[in-house]
Amino acid sequence: GLEQSIRPADLDHYIGQTEIKENLQIFIQAAKERQEPLDHVLLYGPPGLGKTTLAMIIANEMGAGIRMTSGPALERPGDLAAVLSSLEPGDVLFIDEIHRLSRNVEEVLYPAMEDFCMDIVIGKDETAHSIRLNLPPFTLVGATTRAGYLSPPLRDRFGVVNRLQFYRTDELAQIVRRTAAVLHVAIDQEASFEIARRSRGTPRIANRLLRRIRDFAQVETGGAIACDIARRGLTRLHVDEAGLDRVDHQLLEGMIRKFGGGPVGLDTLAAAIGEERHTIEDVYEPYLMQLGFIQRTPRGRVATSLAYTHLHIAKES
Ligand code: ADE
Repeated sequence: GLEQSIRPADLDHYIGQTEIKENLQIFIQAAKERQEPLDHVLLYGPPGLGKTTLAMIIANEMGAGIRMTSGPALERPGDLAAVLSSLEPGDVLFIDEIHRLSRNVEEVLYPAMEDFCMDIVIGKDETAHSIRLNLPPFTLVGATTRAGYLSPPLRDRFGVVNRLQFYRTDELAQIVRRTAAVLHVAIDQEASFEIARRSRGTPRIANRLLRRIRDFAQVETGGAIACDIARRGLTRLHVDEAGLDRVDHQLLEGMIRKFGGGPVGLDTLAAAIGEERHTIEDVYEPYLMQLGFIQRTPRGRVATSLAYTHLHIAKES
Protein backbone atom coordinates (compact mmCIF):
# COMPACT_ATOMS: atom_id res chain seq x y z
CA GLY A 1 0.00 0.00 0.00
CA LEU A 2 0.88 3.69 0.08
CA GLU A 3 2.19 3.64 3.64
CA GLN A 4 4.58 0.85 2.72
CA SER A 5 6.19 2.75 -0.08
CA ILE A 6 6.78 5.86 2.04
CA ARG A 7 9.14 3.65 4.01
CA PRO A 8 12.07 2.64 1.80
CA ALA A 9 12.12 -1.14 1.32
CA ASP A 10 15.88 -1.60 1.00
CA LEU A 11 19.15 0.02 2.09
CA ASP A 12 19.81 1.52 -1.34
CA HIS A 13 16.67 3.63 -1.01
CA TYR A 14 17.28 4.55 2.61
CA ILE A 15 18.53 8.14 2.81
CA GLY A 16 20.96 9.28 5.53
CA GLN A 17 22.60 7.40 8.45
CA THR A 18 25.35 6.63 5.95
CA GLU A 19 27.80 4.96 8.30
CA ILE A 20 25.16 2.68 9.84
CA LYS A 21 23.84 1.84 6.39
CA GLU A 22 27.25 1.00 4.93
CA ASN A 23 28.18 -1.19 7.89
CA LEU A 24 24.82 -2.99 7.84
CA GLN A 25 25.28 -3.66 4.14
CA ILE A 26 28.52 -5.52 4.93
CA PHE A 27 27.13 -7.43 7.93
CA ILE A 28 24.07 -8.49 5.94
CA GLN A 29 26.10 -9.66 2.94
CA ALA A 30 28.52 -11.56 5.20
CA ALA A 31 25.71 -13.28 7.13
CA LYS A 32 23.95 -14.25 3.90
CA GLU A 33 27.16 -15.69 2.44
CA ARG A 34 27.58 -17.82 5.57
CA GLN A 35 23.89 -18.74 5.45
CA GLU A 36 23.49 -17.56 9.02
CA PRO A 37 21.08 -15.10 10.54
CA LEU A 38 22.46 -11.61 11.12
CA ASP A 39 23.76 -11.00 14.65
CA HIS A 40 21.33 -9.26 17.01
CA VAL A 41 21.05 -5.53 16.31
CA LEU A 42 20.36 -2.73 18.80
CA LEU A 43 19.14 0.58 17.35
CA TYR A 44 18.90 3.56 19.66
CA GLY A 45 18.26 7.26 19.36
CA PRO A 46 15.45 9.83 19.44
CA PRO A 47 12.01 8.83 18.07
CA GLY A 48 11.22 9.21 14.37
CA LEU A 49 14.73 8.64 13.01
CA GLY A 50 13.94 5.32 11.31
CA LYS A 51 14.52 2.48 13.78
CA THR A 52 11.40 0.57 12.72
CA THR A 53 12.14 1.25 9.05
CA LEU A 54 15.67 -0.16 9.45
CA ALA A 55 14.31 -3.30 11.15
CA MET A 56 11.94 -3.87 8.23
CA ILE A 57 14.75 -3.27 5.75
CA ILE A 58 17.04 -5.73 7.56
CA ALA A 59 14.37 -8.45 7.31
CA ASN A 60 13.77 -7.63 3.66
CA GLU A 61 17.48 -7.62 2.80
CA MET A 62 17.96 -10.94 4.61
CA GLY A 63 15.01 -12.41 2.72
CA ALA A 64 13.43 -13.13 6.10
CA GLY A 65 10.10 -12.59 7.78
CA ILE A 66 9.59 -10.07 10.58
CA ARG A 67 7.64 -10.29 13.83
CA MET A 68 6.98 -6.96 15.49
CA THR A 69 6.25 -6.41 19.16
CA SER A 70 7.24 -4.07 21.97
CA GLY A 71 8.56 -4.07 25.51
CA PRO A 72 5.24 -3.01 27.08
CA ALA A 73 3.30 -5.64 25.06
CA LEU A 74 5.47 -8.45 26.48
CA GLU A 75 4.10 -8.26 30.00
CA ARG A 76 4.85 -11.78 31.23
CA PRO A 77 7.54 -14.38 30.35
CA GLY A 78 4.82 -16.43 28.65
CA ASP A 79 4.08 -13.57 26.23
CA LEU A 80 7.67 -13.63 24.98
CA ALA A 81 7.77 -17.47 24.98
CA ALA A 82 4.72 -17.49 22.70
CA VAL A 83 6.36 -15.11 20.23
CA LEU A 84 9.70 -16.94 20.29
CA SER A 85 8.15 -20.34 19.72
CA SER A 86 6.25 -19.08 16.68
CA LEU A 87 9.39 -17.83 14.86
CA GLU A 88 10.47 -19.30 11.53
CA PRO A 89 14.17 -19.92 10.86
CA GLY A 90 15.97 -16.66 10.02
CA ASP A 91 13.10 -14.41 11.11
CA VAL A 92 13.73 -10.93 12.47
CA LEU A 93 12.10 -10.34 15.84
CA PHE A 94 11.63 -6.59 16.31
CA ILE A 95 11.10 -5.41 19.88
CA ASP A 96 10.36 -1.69 20.08
CA GLU A 97 10.87 0.12 23.41
CA ILE A 98 13.01 -2.81 24.47
CA HIS A 99 14.12 -0.91 27.59
CA ARG A 100 10.63 -1.49 28.98
CA LEU A 101 10.95 -5.28 29.26
CA SER A 102 10.57 -6.47 32.83
CA ARG A 103 13.41 -8.32 34.48
CA ASN A 104 11.76 -11.76 34.30
CA VAL A 105 10.87 -11.32 30.63
CA GLU A 106 14.47 -10.28 29.94
CA GLU A 107 15.62 -13.51 31.54
CA VAL A 108 13.73 -15.52 28.90
CA LEU A 109 15.42 -13.44 26.24
CA TYR A 110 19.04 -14.13 27.32
CA PRO A 111 19.24 -17.87 26.41
CA ALA A 112 17.08 -17.19 23.33
CA MET A 113 19.58 -14.60 22.08
CA GLU A 114 22.68 -16.51 23.08
CA ASP A 115 21.87 -20.15 22.32
CA PHE A 116 18.51 -20.02 20.48
CA CYS A 117 16.78 -21.91 23.27
CA MET A 118 14.26 -21.40 25.99
CA ASP A 119 13.91 -23.06 29.41
CA ILE A 120 10.35 -23.90 30.32
CA VAL A 121 9.38 -24.82 33.87
CA ILE A 122 6.96 -27.74 34.08
CA GLY A 123 4.96 -28.55 37.21
CA LYS A 124 5.37 -26.83 40.55
CA ASP A 125 6.98 -27.19 43.96
CA GLU A 126 8.93 -30.46 44.44
CA THR A 127 7.97 -31.86 41.05
CA ALA A 128 8.96 -28.71 39.18
CA HIS A 129 11.63 -29.20 36.55
CA SER A 130 12.63 -27.32 33.47
CA ILE A 131 12.97 -28.53 29.93
CA ARG A 132 15.01 -26.86 27.25
CA LEU A 133 13.28 -26.04 23.98
CA ASN A 134 15.30 -25.30 20.88
CA LEU A 135 14.32 -22.27 18.85
CA PRO A 136 15.02 -21.56 15.21
CA PRO A 137 17.97 -19.21 14.65
CA PHE A 138 16.68 -15.64 14.50
CA THR A 139 17.84 -12.03 14.63
CA LEU A 140 16.62 -9.81 17.43
CA VAL A 141 16.38 -6.16 16.44
CA GLY A 142 15.83 -4.08 19.56
CA ALA A 143 14.94 -0.40 19.49
CA THR A 144 15.05 2.16 22.27
CA THR A 145 15.19 5.91 22.63
CA ARG A 146 18.05 5.68 25.09
CA ALA A 147 20.62 2.91 25.39
CA GLY A 148 21.25 4.04 28.96
CA TYR A 149 17.85 2.63 29.99
CA LEU A 150 18.92 -0.90 28.99
CA SER A 151 20.23 -3.33 31.55
CA PRO A 152 23.91 -4.07 30.86
CA PRO A 153 23.41 -7.86 30.43
CA LEU A 154 20.82 -7.21 27.70
CA ARG A 155 22.90 -4.55 25.96
CA ASP A 156 25.95 -6.85 25.97
CA ARG A 157 24.07 -9.50 23.99
CA PHE A 158 23.73 -7.37 20.87
CA GLY A 159 26.48 -7.92 18.30
CA VAL A 160 25.65 -4.76 16.36
CA VAL A 161 24.91 -1.54 18.26
CA ASN A 162 23.94 1.55 16.31
CA ARG A 163 23.07 5.02 17.52
CA LEU A 164 20.91 6.88 14.99
CA GLN A 165 21.77 10.55 14.46
CA PHE A 166 19.62 13.50 13.56
CA TYR A 167 19.50 13.91 9.77
CA ARG A 168 21.17 16.72 7.86
CA THR A 169 18.94 19.25 6.11
CA ASP A 170 19.92 18.05 2.62
CA GLU A 171 19.10 14.47 3.60
CA LEU A 172 15.69 15.51 4.94
CA ALA A 173 15.02 17.53 1.79
CA GLN A 174 15.75 14.41 -0.25
CA ILE A 175 13.36 12.40 1.94
CA VAL A 176 10.67 15.09 1.56
CA ARG A 177 11.00 14.97 -2.24
CA ARG A 178 10.91 11.17 -2.22
CA THR A 179 7.76 11.15 -0.07
CA ALA A 180 6.17 13.86 -2.23
CA ALA A 181 6.73 11.65 -5.27
CA VAL A 182 5.09 8.71 -3.49
CA LEU A 183 2.13 10.98 -2.57
CA HIS A 184 1.95 12.31 -6.16
CA VAL A 185 2.35 15.92 -5.08
CA ALA A 186 4.65 18.34 -6.88
CA ILE A 187 7.15 20.22 -4.72
CA ASP A 188 10.02 22.45 -5.72
CA GLN A 189 13.58 22.19 -4.43
CA GLU A 190 13.34 25.34 -2.31
CA ALA A 191 10.11 24.22 -0.61
CA SER A 192 11.60 20.80 0.17
CA PHE A 193 14.52 22.54 1.91
CA GLU A 194 12.16 24.84 3.82
CA ILE A 195 10.28 21.85 5.25
CA ALA A 196 13.57 20.01 5.85
CA ARG A 197 15.09 22.92 7.81
CA ARG A 198 12.11 22.97 10.13
CA SER A 199 11.82 19.23 10.79
CA ARG A 200 14.21 18.91 13.74
CA GLY A 201 16.47 16.49 11.94
CA THR A 202 13.64 13.93 11.99
CA PRO A 203 12.14 12.19 8.91
CA ARG A 204 8.87 11.39 10.72
CA ILE A 205 8.37 15.10 11.38
CA ALA A 206 9.39 16.04 7.82
CA ASN A 207 6.86 13.62 6.37
CA ARG A 208 4.11 14.79 8.72
CA LEU A 209 4.74 18.45 7.88
CA LEU A 210 4.79 17.59 4.17
CA ARG A 211 1.30 16.04 4.46
CA ARG A 212 -0.09 19.11 6.19
CA ILE A 213 1.55 21.50 3.71
CA ARG A 214 0.12 19.35 0.93
CA ASP A 215 -3.35 20.02 2.45
CA PHE A 216 -2.77 23.79 2.42
CA ALA A 217 -1.45 23.67 -1.15
CA GLN A 218 -4.32 21.49 -2.38
CA VAL A 219 -7.10 23.58 -0.84
CA GLU A 220 -5.66 27.06 -1.25
CA THR A 221 -3.68 27.00 -4.48
CA GLY A 222 -4.79 23.79 -6.14
CA GLY A 223 -1.73 21.58 -6.00
CA ALA A 224 2.00 22.16 -6.26
CA ILE A 225 4.01 23.06 -3.15
CA ALA A 226 6.11 26.19 -3.60
CA CYS A 227 8.26 27.81 -0.95
CA ASP A 228 5.84 30.58 0.03
CA ILE A 229 3.05 28.03 0.57
CA ALA A 230 5.38 25.92 2.66
CA ARG A 231 6.45 28.92 4.74
CA ARG A 232 2.91 30.12 5.36
CA GLY A 233 1.72 26.60 6.20
CA LEU A 234 4.55 26.05 8.65
CA THR A 235 3.73 29.33 10.39
CA ARG A 236 0.10 28.27 10.69
CA LEU A 237 1.26 24.98 12.21
CA HIS A 238 3.26 26.95 14.81
CA VAL A 239 6.54 25.55 13.57
CA ASP A 240 9.15 28.28 13.84
CA GLU A 241 12.25 28.97 11.71
CA ALA A 242 14.32 26.51 13.73
CA GLY A 243 11.59 23.84 13.65
CA LEU A 244 10.52 24.41 17.24
CA ASP A 245 6.85 23.83 18.03
CA ARG A 246 4.61 25.06 20.81
CA VAL A 247 5.89 22.55 23.35
CA ASP A 248 9.51 23.51 22.65
CA HIS A 249 8.54 27.15 23.17
CA GLN A 250 6.69 26.38 26.41
CA LEU A 251 9.71 24.48 27.61
CA LEU A 252 12.25 27.19 26.84
CA GLU A 253 10.01 30.06 27.95
CA GLY A 254 9.12 28.13 31.11
CA MET A 255 12.80 27.69 31.92
CA ILE A 256 13.52 31.34 31.32
CA ARG A 257 10.47 33.04 32.83
CA LYS A 258 9.71 30.70 35.73
CA PHE A 259 13.20 29.57 36.67
CA GLY A 260 15.45 32.42 35.57
CA GLY A 261 16.92 30.25 32.80
CA GLY A 262 17.83 27.46 35.22
CA PRO A 263 19.38 25.33 36.43
CA VAL A 264 16.04 23.61 36.94
CA GLY A 265 15.41 19.92 37.63
CA LEU A 266 13.66 17.91 34.95
CA ASP A 267 10.73 16.92 37.20
CA THR A 268 10.19 20.51 38.33
CA LEU A 269 10.23 21.68 34.72
CA ALA A 270 7.88 18.89 33.61
CA ALA A 271 5.36 19.82 36.31
CA ALA A 272 5.59 23.52 35.45
CA ILE A 273 4.67 23.02 31.80
CA GLY A 274 2.38 19.99 32.20
CA GLU A 275 4.38 17.50 30.16
CA GLU A 276 5.65 14.03 31.03
CA ARG A 277 9.24 13.93 32.22
CA HIS A 278 9.99 11.12 29.77
CA THR A 279 8.44 12.98 26.84
CA ILE A 280 10.67 15.97 27.55
CA GLU A 281 13.69 13.71 27.94
CA ASP A 282 13.13 11.54 24.86
CA VAL A 283 11.26 13.79 22.43
CA TYR A 284 12.04 17.46 23.11
CA GLU A 285 15.36 17.69 24.87
CA PRO A 286 17.62 15.86 22.38
CA TYR A 287 17.02 18.33 19.55
CA LEU A 288 17.14 21.39 21.83
CA MET A 289 20.50 20.13 23.07
CA GLN A 290 21.68 19.50 19.51
CA LEU A 291 20.77 23.12 18.67
CA GLY A 292 22.66 24.24 21.76
CA PHE A 293 19.54 25.86 23.27
CA ILE A 294 19.73 23.90 26.50
CA GLN A 295 22.47 22.27 28.47
CA ARG A 296 22.45 19.57 31.09
CA THR A 297 24.33 20.39 34.26
CA PRO A 298 24.61 18.42 37.51
CA ARG A 299 22.10 20.83 39.08
CA GLY A 300 19.57 20.65 36.26
CA ARG A 301 18.76 22.07 32.84
CA VAL A 302 19.98 25.49 31.76
CA ALA A 303 18.76 27.67 28.87
CA THR A 304 21.73 29.01 26.91
CA SER A 305 22.14 32.49 25.46
CA LEU A 306 21.31 30.98 22.06
CA ALA A 307 17.85 30.15 23.43
CA TYR A 308 17.38 33.72 24.74
CA THR A 309 18.39 35.10 21.34
CA HIS A 310 16.11 32.72 19.47
CA LEU A 311 13.12 33.70 21.66
CA HIS A 312 14.05 37.40 21.52
CA ILE A 313 14.26 37.56 25.29
CA ALA A 314 16.87 39.81 26.86
CA LYS A 315 19.13 38.00 29.29
CA GLU A 316 19.48 39.66 32.69
CA SER A 317 22.80 39.23 34.42
N1 ADE B 1 11.33 7.95 4.87
C1 ADE B 1 11.49 8.04 6.20
N2 ADE B 1 12.77 7.89 6.52
C2 ADE B 1 13.44 7.69 5.37
C3 ADE B 1 14.81 7.49 5.06
N3 ADE B 1 15.74 7.46 6.01
N4 ADE B 1 15.13 7.33 3.78
C4 ADE B 1 14.19 7.36 2.84
N5 ADE B 1 12.90 7.57 3.07
C5 ADE B 1 12.52 7.73 4.33
